[in-house]
Amino acid sequence: MGKTRELELQNLLSVAQASYLVYQVSHWKVKGDDYYGDHLLLQRLYESAQDYVDQLGERLVGLESSGAIDVGKQASGIALVVNQVVKQVGEDPMKQSMKITQELLAELQDAYKNIKSDDQMTLGLDDLVMSISNTVETNMYLLKQATAPGSRHGAKKNPGTRRNAAQIKRRLMR
Ligand SMILES: [Fe+2]
Repeated sequence: MGKTRELELQNLLSVAQASYLVYQVSHWKVKGDDYYGDHLLLQRLYESAQDYVDQLGERLVGLESSGAIDVGKQASGIALVVNQVVKQVGEDPMKQSMKITQELLAELQDAYKNIKSDDQMTLGLDDLVMSISNTVETNMYLLKQATAPGSRHGAKKNPGTRRNAAQIKRRLMR
């Protein structure tokens, strides 16, 4: 029973765990003029990820069974998501963090829609997905502000060309 829900939650958990990994590694690797602000922002993000990852894992086991989580499968899922992000945006830690946040938002929406249309949504899971989405949207806001044209980040990378920064941002938003 609940195969769609199980698969969706496993997938969502992989993307959520990938976000934790990307934020934390980015926290370690970020450098430059904006180093300290970005370093602290990324710490805030991986701490929030630790929380929603834990909630998702516990909910997956609670709604399905402990057999629904296999550590090897999770590791493969995380690697797949992370490799995709690196392939799409390269090695820049802030770009990777933006991208994984977009992926997670898309996955939250996808999981919500599919679980609901398969009539496997519970009131509690509905609330959990909403509340995690709220957190991740806030994280996206923080990342956008940190990398926007006019921020020290944007200004430094694109001296005098606000248009360039806007183009880069549009590219990231795809
Ligand atoms: Fe640290």
